[in-house]
Amino acid sequence: MALLNVNIDHVATIRQARLTDEPDPVWAAVQCELAGANGITVHLRQDRRHICDRDVIVLKETVASKLNLEMCMDEEMVKIAEKIKPDQVTLVPEKRQELTTEGGLDCAGQKKRLEQVVKRLHKKGILVSTFIVPDEEQICVSAETGCDAVELHTGMYANAKNDKQAEKTLNAIRDGRDIAVSCGLIVHAGHGLTYRNIGAAAAIEGLCEFNIGHSIIARAVLVGIQQATREMIELISKV
Ligand code: PXP
Repeated sequence: MALLNVNIDHVATIRQARLTDEPDPVWAAVQCELAGANGITVHLRQDRRHICDRDVIVLKETVASKLNLEMCMDEEMVKIAEKIKPDQVTLVPEKRQELTTEGGLDCAGQKKRLEQVVKRLHKKGILVSTFIVPDEEQICVSAETGCDAVELHTGMYANAKNDKQAEKTLNAIRDGRDIAVSCGLIVHAGHGLTYRNIGAAAAIEGLCEFNIGHSIIARAVLVGIQQATREMIELISKV
């Protein structure tokens, strides 16, 4: 069965709306873990619009499962990861104006930098994954630069307008998985996954880990974060 990391960025977004100290994403992480989450994901953005340095530092001390830090390859971020040493870093592209991570990382266009970053993070014992569209070149470069895993971008699937389009995007994910596995990479997936669309994605064999945020936190507002986490785990494990 695939594992679930809950992305708790939105909890910090609520806190930052009033620049106060609640709700604390650290408390949310505890609740997710109590409900069975296999990991906690946070994105430390350059503008610190939600998760702050303090959150990553405290989460590193308190998360008992796995802490997955999403970040761009900017030098400031790499230095923070080297210092805090999360269990896993997922490298993402970052644009200041975007609402959420929009595309995949261009590994091919930044191969040299990626290679250096992977080496530095490995030296600290951190697993490295790249968030990429399921494109052969991006997958191969991730493997060539020494990454441990790739997170295949499921946004195209999530945005599919009809069943035919959805099937096409699922096939692209399956093809990406095959290439990644043949390169020796672990395969993760995420972005735009919801209680309604997780079924078909979870049915794809070989996807080891899902990173899901918006949909779980949106449901948590109404039913509580433990129940929201449990319901997603149930859907992932049903297939
Ligand atoms: N994976 C990555 C790399 C992301 O950047 C995000 C969004 O922060 C997610 C997964 C989760 O996406 P969503 O919030 O749409 O579930």
